[in-house]
Order: sequence, then structure tokens, then C-alpha cells
Amino acid sequence: LDATATPSSGRLQWSTRLSFILAATGSAIGLGNIWKFPYITGENGGGAFVLVYLACILVIGIPLMMAEIMIGRRGQQSPPNAMASLAKEAGSTSLWKIVGWSGVIAGFLILSFYTVIAGWSVSYISVAADTTFVGKSPAEIGSMFEGMLSDPTRLLTWSTLVILITLFIVGKGVKSGLEKAVNILMPCLLVLIVIMVGYAMTTGHFMQGVSFLFNPDFSKLSSESMLIALGHAFFTLSLASGAIMTYGSYLPKSVSIAKTTIYIGIVDTVVALLAGLAIFPIVFANNLEPSAGPGLIFVTLPIAFGQMPLGTIVGTLFFIMLSIAALTSAISMIEPSVARLVEKFKISRFKACTLLGFGLWLLSVGSALSFNLWKEEKLFGKTFFDMVDHLTANLMMPLGGLAMAIFSAWIIHKKVTQEELGLGKGVMYNVWLFTMRFITPICIVIVFLNALKII
Ligand code: PHE
Ligand code: NA
Repeated sequence: LDATATPSSGRLQWSTRLSFILAATGSAIGLGNIWKFPYITGENGGGAFVLVYLACILVIGIPLMMAEIMIGRRGQQSPPNAMASLAKEAGSTSLWKIVGWSGVIAGFLILSFYTVIAGWSVSYISVAADTTFVGKSPAEIGSMFEGMLSDPTRLLTWSTLVILITLFIVGKGVKSGLEKAVNILMPCLLVLIVIMVGYAMTTGHFMQGVSFLFNPDFSKLSSESMLIALGHAFFTLSLASGAIMTYGSYLPKSVSIAKTTIYIGIVDTVVALLAGLAIFPIVFANNLEPSAGPGLIFVTLPIAFGQMPLGTIVGTLFFIMLSIAALTSAISMIEPSVARLVEKFKISRFKACTLLGFGLWLLSVGSALSFNLWKEEKLFGKTFFDMVDHLTANLMMPLGGLAMAIFSAWIIHKKVTQEELGLGKGVMYNVWLFTMRFITPICIVIVFLNALKII
């Protein structure tokens, strides 16, 4: 954010189109692509799940991302107030602000477990640098990871550190430096993933990985899996969590929302698919289980780092990049809450961050302990971590998305969406409108009813 570019409204703005793209890409690319996508793909049977996920990105994620950026930019406030003011302008009820609130809260809740997983990644920087993976068998690397999970102090130390760094950056508003760093670091991360795909090709099981990812077997696709694929489309694009809407509120009028969105959607998807291509061949080459769960990348990739030439350097750099990617996403999750507190109570960003930090930390303890002390403390068969993940990705985000689709295509005047989106008034705009009016809501409703076993 650049205070020199403050428009007449007094709100801060990104200085250039590039800074918005970097910040939004930084928000989108994170643990969702590299940690979550491979492990849920493994748990949900592969190809068919990936296909549903890709379809959700295309017909739900991308048009909805345009809508969210638009609402943010038009509303020029935090998500609840942006929704309320646009609703008012369109002559509708201010109750729409509930949708904004749901996003702000979802972002906060996600952050509480996201920092725990980011902590695993930070912790693995020094493990990799110590040549710990070299010469270890897959079983030894597996028990190394289990060892970390079973140690609450270690998990809490790292997640607390991640929380402190995130809040410090957001509180001080030193993000512009970070955005510039993203410009260099994201391509580096991409290069490292490509190197890992290269390694995966040498395992002799590359095609098995490819076929697992892209050969759909619909008998493996449960209705629950479809909901998870839908939820992940939201998660990975940072949708319905306040993040994109808040970043959109800092976006200058001159930028084309449509073009920017398509770029982010493509990059995010490519990174996730490459991560899958890097990981599954290693899974099959070492007789591991694709459905191993949240530890999947923390076992498979270290096996590769232990075996490949220059593995120690590649591994160390990889976990550094992954941690930074997680950090730029984490920042975007807390920004909506900070923006709202500052707007409401006129307190400094730093104070807002301190207040939020306490709540965040408490929730993060629940997630960290879900992997050890509270492993067996389950409600509806889910640990605390599972519950927060499920509540946000499989309930709050899809429902928030449904509401936002209806809001942007049925409530807001066409004139406004035409002005804002940058799709013109012709075919492209009508495709967007039709998708948002009918296809997106219907798809979300069908996936839900199906998962609830109603249809
Ligand atoms: N999109 C991020 C990722 O894939 C996660 C995220 C979710 C970020 C919600 C912001 C808001 O890692
Ligand atoms: Na993502």
C-alpha cells in the first residue's frame, strides 16, 4: 500500500496494477496449493476430484473472484461495510453485511490453523539445512515427521512465531517491501517446484502420478469429495474470506478486474497442479499412501531432498519459499479483521493487531494440539483442526460465495457491474452475468444438497 497514491476518498491504494497483482497472487498462492491440494487430492481418490476442482475454479472461482474484487473496489470499505453500502445503493437491505462478516470471520478462523501448518514449514527449514534428510529411508523420514507432530511445544513455538511475524508485518504496514519481495520469490518457488517435477520424472513412477491426477475414476468420487473440491476452489483463490474483497478495496479504478483475475486464477491452478505432479510420483515410488493426510508433502518431499543431487540446498530453499508463500497468504487473512477494527474503533493498525493476536493464538493452540494431546478429542469424528477447516472451507466459504454470486448478479445494478468489471457490455459480460446468476448458484446448491444426502 502506498500512501502517496491516496485518492480523494482518503483510502489507501495500491500504487500500481502490479502491486495489486502481486499482493493478490501472494494471497492466493500458499499452503493451499502445495500442502492442501495434494493431500486432499490423495484422500479423495485423485483424477475425478481434480476434475471437479478444476471445474469449480472455472465456473465458480474465477467469476466470483471478479465479483469480490468489484464489491471491494466499489465499496471502498471493509467487507461488511462494503456489502452494506452497495446494498443500500441498489435499494436492498443492509443485512447483506452479514455476508461480509462471514468472510472476515472465516479469514480469521482459517488463519488460526494456517499458522500451525506454516510453522511446520518454518521448522523444516533448519531440518533440511542440517542435512537431516540425507541417507534416510522413507520410514525414518516418516517417523521424523511424526516426531514433530507429537511434540506440542515444538508446534506451538513455531506457530507462535508465525503469528508474531504476521501481525508485526500487518501492524507496521511494512507490506510494500514484502510485495516487492513476492515479485522475486514467487518465481523462485515456481522454479523449485519445477525442479521437483523434474526429480519426480526420474523416479520411474511419473506416469503413475500423472494418471492418478488426471485419469478420473468417478467411482471414487463421493458427494463429500465434491463438497471438499468446491470448498478448496474457494480456499485456494482466497475467496469468501474477506481477503480478496479487502485487497480489491485498495485497487485503483483504472485496473481491469477481469484480466487481473484470470491471470491469478491461472497461476494459482498451475502451481497446484505442478505440486501434485511433483508429489504423487514420489508417493508411488516409495510405496506410500496417497491418502496419508496433512503430512503428505512433509514426508514425500523430504524423501526426494534426501536422495537428489543438491537436495539439501533445494530442500532448504523450498521450505524457505513455502514459508514466505504462507506468510503472504496469512497477511491477507488478517487484513480484513484489521481493516474492520481500525474503521470501527479508529485505533491504530498496531493496536488492532495486538488485540486480534490474542484470540488468534488461543485458537491456534487448539489446532496445534489436535495433532498430539487432543488427537482423540473429537466432535462428530473431527479434531479441533478438522472442525475449523471443515467449518470454513466446506460451509462458510461456499455459502458466502453463493450469497455473493446472488448479490453481485441479482442485486447490484447491471450498470455498476458493467462499469467495474472491465468485460465491456457485450458477450463476455453476458457470459459472466449468466454464470453468476444461474450456473454458480445452482452448482453450489447441488453440491450442498448432494453432500447432505438430500438429492
Ligand atoms: N489462498 C491461500 C492458499 O491457497 C489460502 C487463503 C485462504 C488465503 C483464505 C486467504 C484467505 O494458501
Ligand atoms: Na491458492
